[in-house]
Amino acid sequence: REAELQARFDACMDADGRIEPQDWMPEAYRKTLVRQISQHAHSEIVGMLPEGNWISRAPSLKRKAILMAKVQDEGGHGLYLYAAAETLGVSREQMQDALHSGKAKYSSIFNYPTLTWADVGVIGWLVDGAAIMNQIPLCRCSYGPYARAMIRVCKEESFHQRQGYEALLTLMKGNDAQRAMVQDAVNRWWWPVLAMFGPPDKDSPNSAIGMRWGIKRISNDELRQKFIDATVPQAQVLGVTLPDPDLKWNEARGHHDYGAIDWDDFWNVVNGNGPCNKERLATRVKAHEDGQWVRDAALAHARKQKQRALK
Ligand code: 3HC
Repeated sequence: REAELQARFDACMDADGRIEPQDWMPEAYRKTLVRQISQHAHSEIVGMLPEGNWISRAPSLKRKAILMAKVQDEGGHGLYLYAAAETLGVSREQMQDALHSGKAKYSSIFNYPTLTWADVGVIGWLVDGAAIMNQIPLCRCSYGPYARAMIRVCKEESFHQRQGYEALLTLMKGNDAQRAMVQDAVNRWWWPVLAMFGPPDKDSPNSAIGMRWGIKRISNDELRQKFIDATVPQAQVLGVTLPDPDLKWNEARGHHDYGAIDWDDFWNVVNGNGPCNKERLATRVKAHEDGQWVRDAALAHARKQKQRALK
């Protein structure tokens, strides 16, 4: 029976088909999806913190309103993704415990500080730009609930990227100090954003099976290259320089060559020792604990509703 179910799953993969929650799936398929979707959800929720830091300091009501909308969107993305992961039999509490205990990963990129207002624009332009690159292929993921969540997320990410780029264009039309603030932010975010796509393909243990199962459609290195090729002209329009002396167009390859990424720094951050890891996790744990009364009240209300319905 199991062999028949496995054969049917393999045929679905060969046909580039879709798996839904009620379908049989190999335990390893389920596990790798729980790993990736829950860590993706954690990234969205922790990703609210660096920018949230600037909501009360935004330079105008317009920028404050836009930033609030964006940070709220990220929270919503996190909830879609936790809900998608729950269809695989993992509970919200299990996922949150994994995050709060430091066991689960979330995107390295959110462990860097947002030192000036220009960081908010650069995060929108580069971090959300990278996220779009990585999330568009996920709209074609073989697991239905994940693919469908990504369609809505990608629409909102486009707004995130455009608002960031527009804020930077405004700053670049300002004075020298504002232009220097943008360049400083680009210098600090460029390399961590390239690393955000994940380790080089040769050092990516999940990629092979992720490709076989239609979870990963484009490799880490290919997406990174695509992002660089798309971003170089945008930097030129903006009037900033990207902090890589080896970055140059290679006609023969039809792509930009670029310098070496510091993978030691990346793994150091992934393993919890980045500039803000401890602060980010402590903030999430405190928010969760401070919210216990809300969960208790909601459960008490639900119990009362149930008892009333039984009368
Ligand atoms: N930060 C932290 N950990 C990372 C990482 C990163 N940037 N890139 C890779 N890793 C981890 C992987 O999770 C894996 O560890 P694990 O097995 O314990 O989970 C290990 O490094 C090896 O990496 P692999 O390439 O083998 O892992 P994957 O095949 O899963 O590829 C990935 C990594 C490309 C991030 C993939 O998991 C993915 O596409 N995830 C979904 C998208 C996502 O999480 N995007 C980033 C954050 S979302 C965001 O940016 C929000 C936006 O609104 C700003």
